[in-house]
Amino acid sequence: MQHLEGKVAFVTGAGSGIGLGIAQALAAAGVKVMLCDIEQAALDRAVEGLAATNADVAGVRADVSLKEELQKAADETIARFGKVHILVNNAGVGGGAEYGKWTDASWNWTIGVNLMSVVWGIEVFGPLIESHGEGGQIVSTASIAGLIAATGPSYNVTKYGVVALSEGLRVDLASRGIGVSVLCPGFIRTQIMDSRRNVPTRFGELEQQNEGDGAAEFVQLAREAIENGIDPRYVGELVREGIEGDWPYIFTDLQFEPLINERFANITAGFDRIRDRVPQR
Ligand SMILES: NC(=O)c1ccc[n+]([C@@H]2O[C@H](COP(=O)([O-])OP(=O)(O)OC[C@H]3O[C@@H](n4cnc5c(N)ncnc54)[C@H](O)[C@@H]3O)[C@@H](O)[C@H]2O)c1
Repeated sequence: MQHLEGKVAFVTGAGSGIGLGIAQALAAAGVKVMLCDIEQAALDRAVEGLAATNADVAGVRADVSLKEELQKAADETIARFGKVHILVNNAGVGGGAEYGKWTDASWNWTIGVNLMSVVWGIEVFGPLIESHGEGGQIVSTASIAGLIAATGPSYNVTKYGVVALSEGLRVDLASRGIGVSVLCPGFIRTQIMDSRRNVPTRFGELEQQNEGDGAAEFVQLAREAIENGIDPRYVGELVREGIEGDWPYIFTDLQFEPLINERFANITAGFDRIRDRVPQR
């Protein structure tokens, strides 16, 4: 999508962090933005801040892990802006527990917010983007953890899922005039480490992150890396550029490139191990 001015975007998790950075960058490029978030107060602040820059924006509260709430948010977007060109599936939570500590609730929460919301976002907004024939773009926020299994099990699984969905749909949706990008951030300065502030009550009391074991040490290191991480507004500008250029992968930095290459090398070594046993055809 080369000309963003006047287009309409729907951005989830836009009340803070990366989603807000994306909403700000798009609004600065003249895009009309519907911000969506589960946190009403953060959403109101974000919309107010952007409206003060003369941007054409609005907000809708939704728990994106519930399909009917996403559908309602889409209806409100069409009622307010008439059409939608850009879907940014960004809401996500760092949650779940390590092996031996996980529960069904911790898996269901993470899968619901990080993965099913992306599936449903595409299901609900895809036809809306297609319907006007002006083309569009879908950007979904995965993570470097969508390419190397570097964090907790459920987070890794959901982020690999977002990468897989995006890679597959990029091929399927091209002929329908919709570009598909996946955002794989490194460490970004946001509130991701305090994701449990947003656990919906239907999941009951999710267990607190384990203290005094390996997980606590990992959490502390991640917290420090994120506190010193990249500015989310910069990530927003990268996403804006990624939409304009229809980038398949939007990375934020090079920190984890060697680890990703190591994974590819391990995969290649797996093929090498059986190479001389493969029957010649
Ligand atoms: N911060 C990082 O270092 C980092 C790295 C890789 C990927 N990510 C991904 O970036 C995305 C944004 O996270 P962030 O780092 O900006 O964290 P954040 O906590 O600052 O922002 C996430 C936003 O999503 C909203 N949200 C949470 N649950 C929701 C739900 N059920 N429905 C609607 N909105 C909901 C929150 O209220 C919040 O505004 C996530 O998908 C996360 O996994 C972050």
